Amino acid sequence: MRGPLALALVGVRHATRTRLRAASSAALEWASPEHRRKHASRKWGRFDENLIPLWVADGDALAPLPVREAVAAASKAGIYGYVDPSASLLQAVTAGMGRSWGRPVSTDWVRWHPGLIPALYHCARLAGPKGCVVVPTPVYPPFLNAAKDASQCIELDLGNEGGPLDESLLRETLDKAVATADGEDVVLLWCNPHNPTGRVWRRHEMEAVARECASRNVILASDEVWSGLILDDVPFTPAGLLDTDVRLISITSASKTYNVAGLDVAFAVVEDDVLRRRYFRAGRDQAEPSHAGLEALGAILDADGGGPCVLTPPRGACEAWRRAMVDHLRANRDTAVAFLERECGDLLTVAAPAESTYLLWLDARKLGASPGLFLSQRGVYLTDGAAFGARGFVRLNFCCSRAVLDEGLERIKGACVEARSNL
Ligand SMILES: Cc1ncc(COP(=O)(O)O)c(C=O)c1O
Repeated sequence: MRGPLALALVGVRHATRTRLRAASSAALEWASPEHRRKHASRKWGRFDENLIPLWVADGDALAPLPVREAVAAASKAGIYGYVDPSASLLQAVTAGMGRSWGRPVSTDWVRWHPGLIPALYHCARLAGPKGCVVVPTPVYPPFLNAAKDASQCIELDLGNEGGPLDESLLRETLDKAVATADGEDVVLLWCNPHNPTGRVWRRHEMEAVARECASRNVILASDEVWSGLILDDVPFTPAGLLDTDVRLISITSASKTYNVAGLDVAFAVVEDDVLRRRYFRAGRDQAEPSHAGLEALGAILDADGGGPCVLTPPRGACEAWRRAMVDHLRANRDTAVAFLERECGDLLTVAAPAESTYLLWLDARKLGASPGLFLSQRGVYLTDGAAFGARGFVRLNFCCSRAVLDEGLERIKGACVEARSNL
């Protein structure tokens, strides 16, 4: 960063450094910016050290201790060949899924992936180039990329408010997709809870989604990676819990809940035999989860018996960590919302309530056509909404220490003061 802004930020640099030291509260330990940059962090490493990064969905907390110990033990063993998930890990995963679905889940239904983006691509490929993929927008960009790379894509406009599902628009959009596919498959890439608005879809909304898909023979792919981070008192409804004959693919991982996104492990569960065979064949990439990722997932499941399937009765070290994280995130969200409402007025408004995730969706249209760029030039990096299908919006990641959040919010306030003076 150069120019007047860089000079203005020099004054805060020293204070920022001391304020943003590593911190810990209850079960959580927050890495300092130096610690993050030193360890190959995409979130922190891509920028000048004066910039506060509140962008990619990666938290700043150290992973739960049992995870760190499992990864360290695997690393010490010195065996780094190809791996298969162990039978006990597979049992633990399906037991957890079974508990959250309220019925047995077979180990045969599981397909492992090195992350959820490959899983999204597998789902989209089921439609094929002549079929159609329906993507609810605004949405985490790989949903749109997977759909457009594999097939014809139709967007379902959810609005930016994180509000209730418009069922008649859902029906209309699915009808349009079926007509576009003209006999080929249609896939709905659903996101529950939704990134970026944080909407936790209510049971009746999930039932409507499953019902409308089933009646048109549309494949429902439900990405449930955020289900462990519900901040408000809203029950999470996994698609697998519903009493429906929809062709369903459920995909999830521990990456967001336990802050292990770089360990590359995720999985899909597909009950329907025919669909599962097609799903398994939809990518012959042989992309596999990492050894460290499998060990980490094992530690999470062993430690609390539930892992990413958070409907499991809580116990154990990882569950205590997750609960502390949810409390911290709720407090950070409330702080950010109050601050932005107080300091930014109508220049930058909270678009959706973020009842889950650690992402705050903000309407920044008054900051110009590229608000992400505008803010980054003023020392704070948020994800620009354009790739989510929502130009003029930005997404703020609040999975950080309170000190980092406060510094980021101050810079956002400074940007708004400057924007107002230019009006
Ligand atoms: C809804 C959703 N799906 C999938 C992913 C990808 O997750 P991962 O790369 O950890 O597998 C993300 C990441 O932010 C996400 O928000």
